[in-house]
Amino acid sequence: VDLYGAERKNSTGIDFSDPSVTAALAPEMERFAKRGWKAAPSLAAGKRGGKAAEIRDPSDNRRVVGEVVEADAAIAGRAADAAAGAAPDWNAVGGAKRAAILERLADLLEGRRAELMALLVREAGKTLPDAISEVREAADFCRYYAAGARRDFVAPVALPGPTGERNEIALAGRGVFLCISPWNFPLAIFTGQVAAALAAGNAVLAKPAEQTPLIAARAVALAHEAGVPAEVLQLLPGPGPEIGNALLAHPALAGVAFTGSTETAKLINRRLADRPGAILPLIAETGGQNAMLVDSSALAEQVIPDVVSSAFGSAGQRCSALRVLFVQDDVADRLIRMLEGAMAELKVGDPGLLETDIGPVIDREALGILEAHARRIAESAREIGRVRLGADCGHGTFFAPRAFEIEGIGVLEREVFGPVLHVVRFEIERLDAVLDAINGTGYGLTLGVHTRIDERAEHICRRLRVGNAYVNRNMVGAVVGVQPFGGEGLSGTGPKAGGPHYLHRFATERTLSVNI
Ligand code: SER
Repeated sequence: VDLYGAERKNSTGIDFSDPSVTAALAPEMERFAKRGWKAAPSLAAGKRGGKAAEIRDPSDNRRVVGEVVEADAAIAGRAADAAAGAAPDWNAVGGAKRAAILERLADLLEGRRAELMALLVREAGKTLPDAISEVREAADFCRYYAAGARRDFVAPVALPGPTGERNEIALAGRGVFLCISPWNFPLAIFTGQVAAALAAGNAVLAKPAEQTPLIAARAVALAHEAGVPAEVLQLLPGPGPEIGNALLAHPALAGVAFTGSTETAKLINRRLADRPGAILPLIAETGGQNAMLVDSSALAEQVIPDVVSSAFGSAGQRCSALRVLFVQDDVADRLIRMLEGAMAELKVGDPGLLETDIGPVIDREALGILEAHARRIAESAREIGRVRLGADCGHGTFFAPRAFEIEGIGVLEREVFGPVLHVVRFEIERLDAVLDAINGTGYGLTLGVHTRIDERAEHICRRLRVGNAYVNRNMVGAVVGVQPFGGEGLSGTGPKAGGPHYLHRFATERTLSVNI
């Protein structure tokens, strides 16, 4: 049941198998890729200041994609002042007006898909299918939260009056929300956080990831074009610690939405706890040590493509991605051989080419962490397979996807954010011990299960504490309104992006009782 009504439809994609479609898209994207893109703090913060920095293409570091003018603490403070002034009016316009603006934004995002895809490919290293998925997801978030604003933010809900009073409850924006978004979904998660905060009646300070400010700047420009007032949504690109510290201490701050690492979420929590004044909510979506369990009843031909897309798709740079594959020992040798074969077929290279399966990782730092992890794990683990890098990988931050057989999930100290798969054999008699070990990591984001024994799937899903469980399919690519997404424990504070309760987390509730 779509709680927001059957009339809302998710955005449609592109048929990449139709040559006439791709032939038209390629030159259009090429034209946009060459534009000198710019991102800067919103003018509502006053005079643009700050340092300028180049943004380079992760698939070819010689290519400059654009320039970012960074905000600093003073600019961030002025932006927060302006947002605080604008928030009450934005809340007062009501859910229906805000919904109409967000629906216009969804239309604009879809209308500019070639331009946005070009930026996603060049700034974030997204493959073409991932780029279009992201444009669609961004539009879906806007329409979904627009529907939520219409449902829950238009009029108060009347409550019973057993003592003769008129009672009602209403949702309202909290004030100024800080939205801090990651580079791995620089359009979808960026737009999703912002659209939710706006739909609920908040003014928004949007802090994009340092690696991907250009696509964020386009999304903000489109939101302004759709009718969001300049003071109500302001972009603050730049260094996380400086901008974050300034805003987390700002008296106007009313809440934070954050997607990124568990460590940073905890740091934000500490800052929020230490500030004087109100107790503020943190909506955090963080990492995972995501597992998939495969038993001997599973269909191997289905398992392997699901493992490959879950572990290596999007270069493993999804918080939902598969990190540890548990395979029942009876079928392990066969599955591992099939996995090795499937890995040999993968093509790593320029994400702008349709034949590429896997693009670059985001930057040198990410590459260094992955290389160090692979070196360390290779000392004690058996390497199952390694994808060869394409000839066009020489100037980018490419990491050849790798798979290792390890003893158990406990060998891994932390989430490794990239295309490295760890495989563990298990005996079915020890299933519960395996499930306890997965719970024991403290993370709780996604889970994959492949079995044709229904009771076993139910048992696994019931016992594991995860936000999103997927049975007999891959475990990535949650769809707005279909698979509300978000984890628990070390993986986040629980709210589900693209779910029916998400907007409430950005809102305050007020009860009114009138003696009549
Ligand atoms: N929402 C994404 C997915 O489901 C991850 O952030 O893959």
